[in-house]
Amino acid sequence: MRLVITDSYEQMGLEAANIVAGQIYLKPGSVLGLATGSTPVSMYERLVAVHRTVGLDFSEVTTFNLDEYIGMSPENPQSYHYFMQENFFRHINIKPENVFLPDGMAEDMIAEGQRYEKLIADKGGVDLQVLGIGQNAHIGFNEPDVKFAATTHKVELDEETIQANSRFFRDASEVPRYAISMGIKTIMMAEHVILLANGKNKAKAVYQAVCGDVTPEAPASILQLHRDVAVIVDKEAAELLPSSIHGVYISRKG
Ligand code: GLP
Repeated sequence: MRLVITDSYEQMGLEAANIVAGQIYLKPGSVLGLATGSTPVSMYERLVAVHRTVGLDFSEVTTFNLDEYIGMSPENPQSYHYFMQENFFRHINIKPENVFLPDGMAEDMIAEGQRYEKLIADKGGVDLQVLGIGQNAHIGFNEPDVKFAATTHKVELDEETIQANSRFFRDASEVPRYAISMGIKTIMMAEHVILLANGKNKAKAVYQAVCGDVTPEAPASILQLHRDVAVIVDKEAAELLPSSIHGVYISRKG
């Protein structure tokens, strides 16, 4: 695990975008795993800027998003399909046929999970997976008590997640109770992983991910067992990490 602590949210996005851009320069046909939420927005903004200014080329890139709410059509402004179009895809030259998200409207979620896993495998697997983290240390929508061996599957959201995500809705009662998410195994199979977090409210989850016990109670802790993870966090999200770790890991000022 490498740790990059930045001075600001914008710097966090820049560091993450540099890694994504580097991946695409090295392998133009890369398969990216992508995340939604407020955390990666500054990374997407930066990638769009790099596309516009120096022509970072997404024409051969394929993307797989982590998750989608169940019961939400792609046209729904609160769906993750919509989020990705608005924040990223419509600003770059990615081909629509190379963009994949789990189908939250599928009738059979078991079959949908299997279809999604096969698609990822058929594309050669994920080269670089981008992750945010929930306050309860969830990744994707893999909530505490997760089964580490799970692949893409239907999940029931925790009350804490429903409350946290209610800021995107009129109130908590509108937040879907279920989602379809890549599983921990799907995430762990990615070649490279970057985990992003910003803000004090993520400090505990970041601590659990980086220095806590590896336990299904803190799903992100499994990343300690992945061979290539970069954790990129702003200084507020890093505030519970012991300073001894700062010396061992890379720390960059913005
Ligand atoms: C959401 C998503 C995750 C995301 C996390 C944090 O529920 N399913 O993929 O990383 O929660 O969201 P945010 O970045 O808005 O804090």
